Amino acid sequence: MKNILAPSILSADFKALGDQIKKTEEAGAQYIHFDVMDGMFVPSISFGMPVLSSIKGLTDQTLDVHLMVTEPVRYVRGFAKCGADIITVHLEACRDPGQTLREIHDCGVRAGISVKPGTPVENLIPYLDEADMFLIMSVEPGFGGQEFIPESFKRISVLRAMLDGRGMDKDIEVDGGIYHSNVADVLKAGANVIVSGSGVYKGNIFDNTEKFMEILRDYE
Ligand code: DX5
Ligand code: ZN
Repeated sequence: MKNILAPSILSADFKALGDQIKKTEEAGAQYIHFDVMDGMFVPSISFGMPVLSSIKGLTDQTLDVHLMVTEPVRYVRGFAKCGADIITVHLEACRDPGQTLREIHDCGVRAGISVKPGTPVENLIPYLDEADMFLIMSVEPGFGGQEFIPESFKRISVLRAMLDGRGMDKDIEVDGGIYHSNVADVLKAGANVIVSGSGVYKGNIFDNTEKFMEILRDYE
């Protein structure tokens, strides 16, 4: 299965955002992970559509939009228009998750669904068919730089077994507290899309990305 790196720009230096994103592409990262926070679903506020529009087309990377917002269905069309290639919503944030996933597909965008660390992965079962990607949060959503919650390994492997058992070859993305030191264990548990903010953007961005890519390739 193809392993993918999705560097989260939440940890980038915004005065140099374009140049920093380009370094991740040059070093092989396939996605740009774009964390949207509304100050309601999570305590913090990050960035939104105008920033997405301005990075659209900057590189050939896939724009992987992670909506940490309440009732995200309200914003699906807007983010699709601004260039999202994937839109992931939180199961806990949607009144009607199935309808929200259909709305994303109606916009011609790939649909992801995410669970916070406290939500049983079994709650994703009704959406296994509909969603293209499943995002397991390995920290409480809201901030970069937190520590990986070890119980996440089990959650990833349970979800991978649920998919395998149904003959479904779908993406499992994991987000929060992933560095060179623990990424191999996250892959071994069954994930194939790796989000990293601090692990990529703190320090030498090109070298950090390249090292991640080496490990990702080793586990394909
Ligand atoms: C957290 C965000 C993450 C965050 C990850 O709510 O969804 O994408 O940027 O940051 P690190 O890799 O620093 O934990
Ligand atoms: Zn994220």
